[in-house]
Order: sequence, then C-alpha cells, then structure tokens
Amino acid sequence: MAIPQHTIDQILDRTDIVDVIGQFVKLKKTGRTYSGCCPFHQEKSPSFHVYRDKQYFHCFGCQANGNAIRFLMDVGSRNFIEVMKDLSSQTGIELPKDNQDSNKLKYKREAPQPKAPTKIEASVPSLENNTSTTFEHDPFAEFQAQDDVFYGNDPFTAFEQSTAPEQTAQDGNLYDLLENIAQFYESQLPHSQIAQQYFKQRGLSKETIAYWRLGYAPEDWQHLEKAFPQDISGLKLLGLIRTSDSGRDFDLLRERVIFPIRDAKGRVVGFGGRALNDEIKPKYINSPDSEVFHKNQLLYGLYEGRKQKAQEWLMVEGYMDVIALQQYGIAGAVATLGTASNTEHLNILFKQSSRITIAFDGDAAGQKAARRTLEIALPLLNDGRELKFFVLPNDHDPDSLIRREGIENFRRLLATSPLLSEFVFAHLTQNHNVASPEGKSQVMGDLRQLTELLPKTGSYRYLLQQYFREKLGFSRKWQPQVNNDASLSFSTKIDAEEYVIAILINHPYLYIHFEPLRALISPDLLLFKILNIFNIIFDDLPDDPELSTYYALGACASYHHELQNILEHANIGDYTSSPEQADKLAADFSTKLQYECLQQKIKSKKFSSLAEMRNLKQKIYEIGKKRSLTLLDE
Ligand code: UTP
Ligand code: MN
Repeated sequence: MAIPQHTIDQILDRTDIVDVIGQFVKLKKTGRTYSGCCPFHQEKSPSFHVYRDKQYFHCFGCQANGNAIRFLMDVGSRNFIEVMKDLSSQTGIELPKDNQDSNKLKYKREAPQPKAPTKIEASVPSLENNTSTTFEHDPFAEFQAQDDVFYGNDPFTAFEQSTAPEQTAQDGNLYDLLENIAQFYESQLPHSQIAQQYFKQRGLSKETIAYWRLGYAPEDWQHLEKAFPQDISGLKLLGLIRTSDSGRDFDLLRERVIFPIRDAKGRVVGFGGRALNDEIKPKYINSPDSEVFHKNQLLYGLYEGRKQKAQEWLMVEGYMDVIALQQYGIAGAVATLGTASNTEHLNILFKQSSRITIAFDGDAAGQKAARRTLEIALPLLNDGRELKFFVLPNDHDPDSLIRREGIENFRRLLATSPLLSEFVFAHLTQNHNVASPEGKSQVMGDLRQLTELLPKTGSYRYLLQQYFREKLGFSRKWQPQVNNDASLSFSTKIDAEEYVIAILINHPYLYIHFEPLRALISPDLLLFKILNIFNIIFDDLPDDPELSTYYALGACASYHHELQNILEHANIGDYTSSPEQADKLAADFSTKLQYECLQQKIKSKKFSSLAEMRNLKQKIYEIGKKRSLTLLDE
C-alpha cells in the first residue's frame, strides 16, 4: 500500500510527538523542550530530547532522531505500514484503500448478442450517425468484427458459438468504459438543439464546451444500455444504470447536459448531469461513488487547473462556477462534487499552493458554510499557509458575478478578500457589542474556541490573539481600573477571593503560587472554578505576559460577567511594579490564605478522622513556619 504524502502529513498534524513518546518515556518539561532517558540506549542521565514545536526527537547520547512515526517504528520494531495503521485509527484519518488492486476495476463483459446484424443496427439508431467519426473506440467495432467471424456464411453455427461464454466474454475495465461513455455523451451534444442552446444561454463558448468535454444525455430511458450492450454490469457498477422496482433497467442521467468529472490524472471517473431548466428537480444529479469515483477525495477542475499551471486556487460551489471562471481566464477554480468540503479537499488544495481562497455566499447559509469550513481548515493551518475568504455579494455565485462585473472587477474583488484573521474577526464580532468590556471578553472566549483548533506547534494561535487584542482596542498595558462609582450594586470592597482572581487574570503565571488553594477551598467558590481552569490551561499559556492574560480571559469566558465586575474593582496595582515583586507578593498572599483556610477547617471541626486533624495541624505548623519567615505581618 502506498500512502500519499498528504495523508502522512495529515496524520502527523493530528499527532503530538510529546504524547506519543510520553507513553514510552517519562518526560520532564524543561523550558520549551521535554527530556528523558533515551529508550534506544542505556543511560542514567537524560540526553533524549523532544521538541514539541518541531515535532521532533533527538538523543544526544546515541544520535537517534526523527518524527513520531520514526519513534514508533524504532521503539516497537514495527514497519511503516503497521505504525501508520495504528496512527490512522488513533487520529481517525483513513489510509487510502489499496486501489492498486486492478481486479476491482474489472467487470465481466457480456458476449455479443446473437442477433441478426440488421436487427442490431435498428436497436441503436442514435449511434449510427456518429460513432464512426467521434468514438475513439467504437463500442460496436468489436461486435462487428466478430459478426464476420460468427455469421460468416452460416448463421446457425454462429449462433451456437456465440452462446459459449468462455469464447466471447471478456473482462472490461471501468476506466475504459467511463472514457467511452464520456465520448458517447459528447457525441450526443451536436444532436440536441436544446442542449446546445442551453450552453449558449449560459454563455459557454465552443472552446469551453470542448475543453470541459461537456455533453448531453438523451431522453431515451435506455440509451447507455443500447450503446454499450456488452457493458451492462460495468454500467451498473458505476451506478449509471439503475434497476426499477419492477426490475427494468434505466439510465440515471437522462435529458440532461453532462459534466464529465476527471480525477487528478485526467481520467474520467464520474458524471454530473444538469437539468435543462430550473423547474426540473433535482437540478443536478451526480453519478454515485464507485470503485474509481470517491467524491470526498476529488475536486472538479483540479486536473484542468494543474494542466494550466494555476497559481491562485479558489474553492467555489458548482461546476458552472469552475467553468465560467476558467473561460474568463481564472484557471485555479475547483468545486466539490455536490458534497460539503472536507479536510481531504482542503489538503489537496493546500498542496497546490500555500495560499487558498474559499468563496462563500454572503447570505446566512453561506456564513454557516464558511464557519464550518473554517473549523475544518484551522487544524491544517501550519505556519506559512494562508486562507482567504471571498464573500460574494448576495444572490451571486462566482459564475453570475464574473459575468456581471467582468474579469477586471472580479479580480479586484477577489484580491480584496479578507484574510482568515480579518474574516474571523468580522465573523466573531458581529454578534457581540465590542464597545463593552463584556462584549470584548465574549469575543476573546469565542476566539479561544477557534484557536483551540489551530495546530499546537504553530505561532498562528498567538498571532491571532494578538491581532484580536489590537483590533478590540485593549490598551497596551492593560491595568484594571479602580471604579469608585458608589451607585454600582457590586461592593467596592473586594474580598480575598476576588483579589486572588484579579491577580490570576492579570498575571496568569502566578497561578503556581495559588495552586495549593484548590485542595483547601470550597468547590462552590468562583475561585475554585477559576483555579481549575488555570490548572488546565497553565501549560499552554503564551510566553508573552499580555497575551497570557487574554488567553486566560478567553478560557474563563463563561464567567465573564463575574470577572468583569471583579476586574473593574480590584486594585492590584502593587503587582504591576515588577515581576519579582509580584512573585513574592503572590507567594506570601497564598500562604496566608492557605493558613486561614486550614485554621477555619480546624475550627469548624470538619475533619473525618483524628489522623486528618493531625495532618491539618502539621500543615498549619509548616505554613506558620513559612509565614514567620516572610515579611507578612498579618
Ligand atoms: P447550486 O444550486 O449552487 O447551483 O449548486 P449552481 O452551481 O449555481 O448551478 P447553476 O449555475 O444553477 O447551474 C452548486 C453545486 O451543488 C451540487 C452541484 O455540484 C452544483 O454544481 N448540486 C446542486 C447537486 O449535487 N444537486 C443539486 O440538486 C443541486
Ligand atoms: Mn450558478
């Protein structure tokens, strides 16, 4: 099984090397790296290092190094495929099915039917006029060649021979059949005035029609069956012939203009058929997935765009958008095949270019689709990749817009598409009043949900938060303001609990001093909840102190009302003079609070055993000793 590089990348993107190695090696965090004793050679002091930002390990003792896959192969003496299968099931990213297996492309061709030649000609009248010139492989050529052999001078011997399947039946190949069908649909277009008229009315030139190999599926309910009488089982495998409840076979696509769909190698793998007017529902019918047609791994226009060496790639919704844009000179437009875009689609596009644009309708449905795509795209945004959002004016798609605006204006609109950061900002701020502190903190909370989806290794999550902070107009040194407005219902006299919260939000790194309080205070307290959140986010706090405050605010967004009140009233000015000062104040303050909590516990006699009481007293003694060493005199 060959695993394509993009699948390997995808799996690595969803795997964190620290987690992987952490299952085998006890790792200790030291600054930005993790270290432990190397599993590949004997050692007492750790020289084995894991770099989360680079997703890489290196042993300075034995020089073992590599990524998560290498580690798993070496540590378990397993081969690449075994490791990838494991990671695939852990990450949920599927490995490609083994389509090297050419048996899956095969179907049994039927023997030519033993009918008189004249009769056969009559049964396929529509082909008579055009097969000889337009079919590269005339599906009847074979048949006719056999005619001579079979029928020769003696129709009866011929009949007997043709009923012996082993002599005449042979394997067909689905790709060949699809190519022949595409040629058949193409060949039908010149015979249909109404189909030609349809393309003309949609503004497609002859060259465009030929380039995209557009065609027409006639009205007849069994045109494919008649054109390819030996390939019925192949047609059924492709889903192009269906069987009715009464057992009659009929064509899936009838009286529709046809868009053949090519895979990345240019092979025809499926078809889309559009009704000739908008009254007919459904507007589009696509052939179903088959052995060679996997809609969620295909993009319409990818092969063509690559052939034209497209530089800019734009994801649109429909076949007609792709085609219209190409006709106007925008080569890199692609569309999904009537399905929502998924990770695979975006990965394919990011392989073409590190900057891709996604077009959306401006309406509510378009916004929803944009949000969904955003969530799929975020985990793929390694540093260097850029995503832009082309929001279309209401009631337009790229096809109609380029026709109205012309190529120059269209290009200008496209060029001004917002970058991901701007789009996300507009998207997240539209529902909040960003003039108010509450609104701002809600926006930061929403943002946090999204940045959670970004790769942990990139700098994008920090940059995005920084960008938001600037846009929301937070001042550079954000200091809580003391508000003396006595009319506020909230008490201006702040208590210890709230004081700690204010310190935590302003200086999240001071959490290490307050951590012991988690074990001592009541779970009903807001402080308890905030401490628990800090316990979760502490390892991920950005290094930048300002950013870490907004990170913390985002994480505590569900308490933003309470926090806002506290932050407006708490004066923790002492903590902003110098980091060293803040550190000491926090340590002392926490010790004092721990002492008080323990004292209270003893007083309230809320302990279950004598041993617990002794334990508490011991703790009080220790803390008391610690306190006496500090300057704290309360
Ligand atoms: P749209 O309904 O937006 O149509 O479907 P469109 O692309 O603008 O088509 P025209 O311009 O009216 O011809 C967008 C895409 O969704 C899929 C098709 O792939 C289509 O190109 N689709 C749409 C379906 O699969 N089935 C449908 O019934 C409609
Ligand atoms: Mn359209």
